[in-house]
Parts: sequence; C-alpha cells; structure tokens
Amino acid sequence: MILESKHITAAYGDSQILWGVDLEVEEASITTIMGRNGVGKTTLLKTIIGLLKNKKGNLLFEGQDITKLPPHKRAKLGIGYVPQGREIIPKLTVYENLRLGLESTTEKLIPEEEIYELFPILKEFKKRLGGNLSGGQQQQLAIARAITGRPKLLLLDEPTEGIQPSISQEIAKILLRLKKEKNIATLLVEQKIDFAKGITDYYYFMDRGKVIASSKASDITEEEINTYNSI
Ligand SMILES: Nc1ncnc2c1ncn2[C@@H]1O[C@H](COP(=O)(O)OP(=O)(O)OP(=O)(O)O)[C@@H](O)[C@H]1O
Ligand SMILES: [Mg+2]
Repeated sequence: MILESKHITAAYGDSQILWGVDLEVEEASITTIMGRNGVGKTTLLKTIIGLLKNKKGNLLFEGQDITKLPPHKRAKLGIGYVPQGREIIPKLTVYENLRLGLESTTEKLIPEEEIYELFPILKEFKKRLGGNLSGGQQQQLAIARAITGRPKLLLLDEPTEGIQPSISQEIAKILLRLKKEKNIATLLVEQKIDFAKGITDYYYFMDRGKVIASSKASDITEEEINTYNSI
C-alpha cells in the first residue's frame, strides 16, 4: 500500500470532524472517496497532507509513519495535493504557477515537455495569467503544478466541480495515463459517479466523518453506489 490511514481523527478547534478513518490506497491505483457535502472529505485530504493535525491514529506512506511530519516533508516524500477550488495564483502566469510545484523537489526547472505533452493547452497559454484561464484550464494547471512536484500519490479534491463535461473527460484520461505511464496513485474525492466509475479501482464512502463502506469497483453496482451516497 502506498498510503494507509489507521483510525485517523481530526478537528477544527473543539469541533471534531473525523472520527477514526481507516483507508488504504494501493500503488498505481485510483481510489475514490464519495460522500455528501460536509461529511469530511476535504478535511481527510488536509489531514493526509498535514495541514490539519490528526489527534489519534496513524498515517503511513510507503510503510513509513508520517503522522508527525510537517506538510513540506510529506510533499517531498511524494504526496501531491490539488485542492478543492484549485487555488491557482491569479496574478502569476501559467508558467509561474507551474514553478510553484518545484518546491517539493530538488529540481530547478519544470519538466516542460512532459507537462505540455499531458496538457497541451498550458503550452499555448504559458504566458497568460492564471486568473484569465477558464475553470477547466485552471484545473488542468492545478494538476500539472502537482505533477511538477513529482508525486507518487496525488490527492485530488473534486476536480470536476464547476467544469465542462468535455474537460472532465480530458482530466479522466490524464488520471488514467498518470497511473499507467507514471505509476502515480490517485486518491480522488468526487461526487460525480459518472466521472469516478470510468476510472476508479476502489471506492470509499464517507458519512459524518467516518468510512461507512468500501468496495472494489468491480464488486459494486451503480445502484449500491447511489444508496451509499444518499445515506
Ligand atoms: N476551517 C474550518 N473550520 C471549522 N469547521 C470547518 C472548517 N472547514 C470545514 N469545516 C466543517 O467540517 C465539516 C466537514 O467539512 P469538509 O470541508 O471536510 O466536507 P466535504 O466532505 O469536503 O464537503 P464538500 O463536499 O462540500 O466539499 C463541515 O461540517 C464543515 O462545516
Ligand atoms: Mg470538500
């Protein structure tokens, strides 16, 4: 397993959100977390990346206990993060936004050919300000920025939120390519079944800060998925 979350808990101040989350991500797999608004999906990703402290439980990355490591050390080990809402810096160009991904590497230059091969639009818009891209283009830039950081595991928070279906399909293809060509595992938070079911290997369903069910993609029907998502 590339990631193991063993009974993770997390809180904002006195308000506990995660109540013991157990979850595993296999190497070079796509694992999807589903669940309604407010069940704690983003909180879980933030806890995995180290932006929130988990009070109990342990996080293992490639078997190493990372529970006490700060975010930048987790990033250096190979955990990439694409936040919900993308968080592109609007006043920086596409190229400058990409450079931010280098912080978690020892490299001085972004692997431009590799990035533009995956995201041709970013080559065309290299000098354009991040804020002038469409939502879908910003999402591609956010993923590209994370790839620049050389992750082994990519945490992706609702990449299709507010994005045209055609770009969602492109993003789905990219995630499959990252898995097959670069052995990058993805932990995807997603509420759209159509997007998830085309690419995921494994599902976790959350409700009120807990995992309530999980299944291999091949062992679950769309009806069952809908049932878990409406709990
Ligand atoms: N910074 C914060 N301070 C306090 N409470 C927060 C904070 N961020 C989120 N919460 C609360 O934590 C709970 C879980 O929120 P979280 O953002 O993890 O949910 P989510 O499953 O990602 O939802 P969505 O699908 O809407 O993105 C919610 O009740 C939310 O109000
Ligand atoms: Mg969220």
